[in-house]
Amino acid sequence: MANKTLANAKNAKNDEFYTQYHDIEKEMNAYLEYDKNIFRNKTILLPCDDPEWSNFTKYFAQNFENFGLKKLISTSYAANSKKYKTNYQPTLFEVNDPQFDTYKTNLNGKIFILTKDKNKNGKIDIEDLEWHYLDGDGDFRSAEIGKLRDEADVIITNPPFSMFREFLNWIIESSKQFVIIGNMNAITYKEVFPLIQENKMWLGYGFDAGNAYFSSPFANVYGEGVYNSETNLVKFRNVCWFTNIDHGKRHQHLPLMTAEDNYKFSKHKEIKGKKYFKYDNYDAIEVPYTDAIPSNYRGVMGVPISFLQKYSPDQFSIVGLSRYTKTQGMSKEFVDAYYKSGQTGTICEGHPDLCYYDENNYPVVPYMRVLIKFNINEVIK
Ligand SMILES: C[S@@+](CC[C@H](N)C(=O)[O-])C[C@H]1O[C@@H](n2cnc3c(N)ncnc32)[C@H](O)[C@@H]1O
Repeated sequence: MANKTLANAKNAKNDEFYTQYHDIEKEMNAYLEYDKNIFRNKTILLPCDDPEWSNFTKYFAQNFENFGLKKLISTSYAANSKKYKTNYQPTLFEVNDPQFDTYKTNLNGKIFILTKDKNKNGKIDIEDLEWHYLDGDGDFRSAEIGKLRDEADVIITNPPFSMFREFLNWIIESSKQFVIIGNMNAITYKEVFPLIQENKMWLGYGFDAGNAYFSSPFANVYGEGVYNSETNLVKFRNVCWFTNIDHGKRHQHLPLMTAEDNYKFSKHKEIKGKKYFKYDNYDAIEVPYTDAIPSNYRGVMGVPISFLQKYSPDQFSIVGLSRYTKTQGMSKEFVDAYYKSGQTGTICEGHPDLCYYDENNYPVVPYMRVLIKFNINEVIK
């Protein structure tokens, strides 16, 4: 690939990342374990897919009877409309079909539908998928795909990373059930955080150890540590599932120690033998690790965003996100001390970020924090 093409492909706007079968299976198992009938008699829409070889389509088609689905619909985006053109070659499946059209294969999206045992072999599976070209290019924003959204009960996909906000908005306005993949940073978006705070959306079960692997036609433009030449997959650490379907992990309480036990036994040097620092400009304590949340603290606590992977609404309430929380602002004294210490971040008097002094009176401005507190009915030791 020419250098320019490489740079473009590596650009965050590259949307061509394809999900692994076992990641889909593991995620869906979490919902099915919680409610084995979660998909029964439902119409599932898989938009932004490539149904001929997408693992989402394969997974749901193979499990059609098992899950008791009413209808499975998946749609693809036309090769010509994609931002990053791959060397698109129609598959034999398409070329050998009487409806194959050399023009439409590039310009139109496709729709795959599964409802019945078309080949009359006694079971409904991937062999029974029916397909045709869409009228348009399969853009999820089109009226054609909007109609399919309105018909569906559940929307499941890994949408284009570069359009996450728009895609989520498209789902939320439809009030459907959904399971979608997105970047963990999306939690901090101003449209997204309120959904999480109000328990209208939460994180799904998640990828193994937080590592998500995807195949991509551009995989090899990534450097070592991201691209694995043996598997031909890229690894992203900050990707998660977002959903409004319940799962068991969401109701597991975090086992936690009291503040006193944390001081004695914490594995974190920031806590052991020390204390929890109070913010200088907001009535809460700083808790730099989720497993260091003190079980007997009744006030508000600032925790890292990764807390949300362990968040149970039965145990905690979310008070806010530091970015959107009105603090008292930083004092002149704090700002002076900050710059005197040699730190170079951009802060000023009145700056809204949370801040505190550590045990050495060193001024600290922690990265974004989720502000939480224990639910009133939680047993406090
Ligand atoms: C992250 S990939 C995931 C593909 C597939 N769902 C999977 O997980 O394997 C997103 C796909 O959405 C397609 N896409 C990009 N913009 C789109 C749009 N406006 N409407 C529909 N699909 C789009 C991309 O071409 C890409 O194939």
